[in-house]
Amino acid sequence: MTTPTRPARVRARVPRQADVKLAVRWGIRQGLPAVGMKLGARSGDLFARLNADPALQKDPFPLYAQIRAQGDVVPGRYVYTAARYGVVSELLKSDAFRSGVPDEALPAPLRRALAWAIDPRAQPFTERPAMIMTNGAEHLRLRKVASRGFTPKAIDNLRLRTIEIADHLLDELDEAKHRDGSPADLVEEYANLLPVLVIAEVLGVPAKLQETFLGWGDRILQIAAFGVPFRTFLDIEDCLREMNTWLLGHFDYLRANPGENLLSRMVAASDAENATGNGLTETELMANAGLLLFAGFETTVNLIGSGALRLLAHPDQAKLLRDEPERWRNAIDEMLRLDGPAQFTVRHSQVATELRGVPVPKLRMIICLLAGANRDPAVFADPDRFDITRANARDHLALGAGVHFCLGASLARLEGEVALSRLFERFPNLAAAGAPTLGPNAALRGYIQVPATLGLG
Ligand code: HEM
Repeated sequence: MTTPTRPARVRARVPRQADVKLAVRWGIRQGLPAVGMKLGARSGDLFARLNADPALQKDPFPLYAQIRAQGDVVPGRYVYTAARYGVVSELLKSDAFRSGVPDEALPAPLRRALAWAIDPRAQPFTERPAMIMTNGAEHLRLRKVASRGFTPKAIDNLRLRTIEIADHLLDELDEAKHRDGSPADLVEEYANLLPVLVIAEVLGVPAKLQETFLGWGDRILQIAAFGVPFRTFLDIEDCLREMNTWLLGHFDYLRANPGENLLSRMVAASDAENATGNGLTETELMANAGLLLFAGFETTVNLIGSGALRLLAHPDQAKLLRDEPERWRNAIDEMLRLDGPAQFTVRHSQVATELRGVPVPKLRMIICLLAGANRDPAVFADPDRFDITRANARDHLALGAGVHFCLGASLARLEGEVALSRLFERFPNLAAAGAPTLGPNAALRGYIQVPATLGLG
């Protein structure tokens, strides 16, 4: 007779502290906004609907026009939205509305939980202390140090190098697979590569790291949505950990091997300022270098891809640029106005206030639709028309305004101009070859495929 054995008791796995912290981080940073957006979408918030609906994201411009038609500020259940030029510009310049989520926006117990759960190595550059999310004296201090690397002379020095990079990529396009007339993908084979190679120069890293950067970019980009699912959040955090660890090691490398690159200057400036207590901590350096790395290529790729597409669709404008190349600068601004990669940015009211007659409660999130403001007919005549001769094209808000105005604006314009002018000069018979594919991100708009024949032979 066999002795009966008691079935082993299945013991529930006790979650490790690290798992609990992860769940807390996801719940507060992503779960709560996701619920807010869902409720908002159900109650008809136009912006919340946009966030939830991929079909609307394909062509959001009629929705932006609808929001503009409703007034300066459109109150919603979860967020307020602004899409008219005047009020968006005012919001970006106003001290009453701040960048980043204010600490007080979270109830005290959640704030404490988040502080407990923080993982410094997975710190996203979309949060404090990345300068884009800071305010007042803190913002000034961070921006001052980073600006040391972005002097007009430093940017000018990058022009020649950017031309070399563009020409090298175009040689590869020219020589390789497309001699037989098969279409090239202008994003995959060109727009994707140029900014990442330029940012490698800016950061003083070997160009061979470009694939790693591109991989990080694709994974981290998902953070731009409101309320990402848990698995995606896991992946984003893993990637942030990899990137932040690499950055910290790279600062040490630059300290030992200072070079003529922008990040070297930024690290040196911070170390020098440390003598007076105004330098950056390693965490601040890490968050801001991460911001530069990411902002440095994800946005510009989209400017080049969308700009190429515009010129393919408007051969008359491409011809005008060939005949009068001095128009390139304005053309890039017109592309930014019409197809700005950053569709919106966010501000929060500091106190209960009024914006153009609309009461705004304290700590309310306001979506500033930059791309909506850039098509406001009150400022830009016939706003959906692509016109490289438009006199006020440069007034667009695609690079922001006020104290947070894009630190890399000159670099972005330079890269856009060099990339597109070299492309269209090298291949005067460049022609669209099939439908382009739009990327899936509502916040950062751009194409992931733009097929074109080079018109060789
Ligand atoms: C077409 C390309 C680009 C676009 C459309 C763009 C757009 C923007 C916008 C709209 C803002 C303001 C955000 C706000 O006010 O909340 C901003 C800020 C910023 N951008 Fe760019 N950007 C581009 C390229 C770059 C490049 C190439 C870099 C650096 C290499 C860069 C670095 C930054 C930084 C550091 C800030 C934060 C500035 C601050 O908070 O003071 N950007 N960008």
